[in-house]
Amino acid sequence: MTAMETRRVDAYEKVTGRARYTADRVPENVVYAAFATARIGKGRIAGIDTSAAEAVPGTRLVITKFGADELRDVGFVLAGGHAAQSLQPLRDNRVAYRGQPIALVLADNPIAATEAAQAITAVYEPEPFAVKIDADGAETLMQEQAIPLPFLADIKVGDADAALQESPVRINSTYEHPAQHAAPIEPFTSVVRWDGDKLIVNDSTQNANAVRFGLATQLGIDPAGVEVISSHIGGGFGTKNAMYGHLGPIAIAARRLGRPVKMVLPRPQNFHTGNFRPASVHTVRLGADENGRLLAAVHEVDQQTSWHDLFPSDATTATSRLYATPTFRGRQRLVRTDVPTPGFMRAPFESPAVFAFESAMDELAYATGRDPVQLRLANDATVDPVTGLPFSSRHLAECLRRGAARFGWDQRDPQPGSMIADDGSIVGWGVAAGCYPASIVPIVAHLSATADGAIIVAVGGHEMGQGIRTAVALLVAHELGVPVDNVTVHVGDTRVAPQPFTAGSWGTSSALPAVRAAIAELCKTLGVTGDVPAAVRATGKSVVTVSASTLAPGQTEESLEQVKGGHLAIGGPVFPEFVAFSWAAHFVEVRVEPTTRRIRVPRVVSVVDCGRVASPTTAASQVRGAVVWGVGAALREESVADEQFGGFLTTTLEEYTVPVNADIGEIEVDFIDEPDLRFNPVGVKGLGEVSLVGVAPAIANAVYHATGRRMRRLPIRVEHVL
Ligand code: MOS
Repeated sequence: MTAMETRRVDAYEKVTGRARYTADRVPENVVYAAFATARIGKGRIAGIDTSAAEAVPGTRLVITKFGADELRDVGFVLAGGHAAQSLQPLRDNRVAYRGQPIALVLADNPIAATEAAQAITAVYEPEPFAVKIDADGAETLMQEQAIPLPFLADIKVGDADAALQESPVRINSTYEHPAQHAAPIEPFTSVVRWDGDKLIVNDSTQNANAVRFGLATQLGIDPAGVEVISSHIGGGFGTKNAMYGHLGPIAIAARRLGRPVKMVLPRPQNFHTGNFRPASVHTVRLGADENGRLLAAVHEVDQQTSWHDLFPSDATTATSRLYATPTFRGRQRLVRTDVPTPGFMRAPFESPAVFAFESAMDELAYATGRDPVQLRLANDATVDPVTGLPFSSRHLAECLRRGAARFGWDQRDPQPGSMIADDGSIVGWGVAAGCYPASIVPIVAHLSATADGAIIVAVGGHEMGQGIRTAVALLVAHELGVPVDNVTVHVGDTRVAPQPFTAGSWGTSSALPAVRAAIAELCKTLGVTGDVPAAVRATGKSVVTVSASTLAPGQTEESLEQVKGGHLAIGGPVFPEFVAFSWAAHFVEVRVEPTTRRIRVPRVVSVVDCGRVASPTTAASQVRGAVVWGVGAALREESVADEQFGGFLTTTLEEYTVPVNADIGEIEVDFIDEPDLRFNPVGVKGLGEVSLVGVAPAIANAVYHATGRRMRRLPIRVEHVL
């Protein structure tokens, strides 16, 4: 394979602007939608005045309320429905949180729509609200009782509390992780139009199935009459996870007006009507012998949710697997607050959970006087400590060893504050490990080969920039011996294949086995192993099309039917015969400027075990992006709740600060690249999320090494290291 062939297959389309994102679509005669939003933290709307909005030139329609039979319940995606939250705005006068839509405006141009929306005024009956996890009025529930799903049950191995009591060395620390928003560059964007009874939707979503089946449910129409296309997405990161509450209203407006409707949510509304990583508080207790061998671990989590939905915590699935902890107890609680329902955001639970756990491991390293890398190697697990099953593959120790060598870890003086750079800044070196569950969802793939040599793949998956098209194209090119440029990959399109939620780092590891099965089917159909175009010509046909579908180990055809019906059917990370995770080790250098205490991250080395690397260029890019996210999590990002007015205060990219180029130094990426053939026949595990897990604690541990100050709350700012 030449270097050219490993490039991103849609790179030219993207850099030349030919890649069409949802916002690029401007159908003829389109009308633009905008929301007016609630300005109280909670309560009721007593009256709403739309007359000024209706007077704005170009305004075509203002809607404040839909009938319950016109806009039906869709249900929360994690409770069997298709919507990002169960709350559907514009159906009654309840306000659950500031920023909730209270009116929809349709106008001939986006400026008129925005102006009209802002001209809408309401009279409210406000009620007390709680937006913070520790506020009066927030309500705490035991997750185990609230959500009786076995895979969300608290993990218990042995008697961790008794083992902790008997441990010679004990760590007991509480860590706080703020709420965060994914803030993809492309905001929530939708274009809807009716073609007779058919509803055609372009949407920036990573779950076109949910949009299709959600709209069908909401509007009471046949899903066969709903087409959803999401061909290029300008960042998803989990937040574009389901059907959002603007889609039904704009579909109805399009029908009423007989015109296509386009809606691009302005940035501040993305922070209030999109979902977010909920705030969480983690208490970690570790018990060990004098050499740092773990005897017990307890991880207790409180995680924010909304009043109307229970967005679960899955924190201890990861932290119970990092090390060979002979006893472990997890406990997860949910805290109801007056916010939109939280949702997935890149390594949703694992990144905060491992920030806590790997910070505690660093505390244990200092408490026992062991090197942090050696401590982790000494606690490496050979089988899954929770189930006793083998891991499908686990190269965490190799990630740590290789990362330490590349980083030059043996030059580290463990004494905090002991390493000073030439420019006088204080150097800190930190390490942390990460893991992320490896899952698979049922996928359908169709493969067409033409007599002139083109291969067209239609498969379940969404291209959010992670490179799924490239990974699929490289697999097909490699297996069939055709040039990559001859391969066209269609994803994110419900017209060509079912499009289940692309998330959980299962996109590539689910799609590739299905595509490979389709390749095998094609070769069988043609009776060849090579030169497919010649074999197609020999059939006398211009095109030969085959289909295949794949399931996770242990799944039955029922799971495939669930996916075809628009529901989730996730296999893993615990499979009948093994447990599957991806693994990572991150090594970080920070420099603390001695006077201003400004913290910089000049150097990161990340080594990842994601099984086989399916697409080297996009894989390395995924890891670099994740490290940038980790720098953001450790030093920048916080969605600050507004205790005075409700909602969030930080709703622009000026206020919700993400890292910029000047914040990022050298990021060295390496892969173990050992195929995991027990997990699936292509040997790929997940990559996008594991690469984030552990970055923030590695930075926090480096800050400790530089300053002697233990950082138990993110983000770490100058004022915390003064
Ligand atoms: Mo990811 S947060 O599961 O899209």
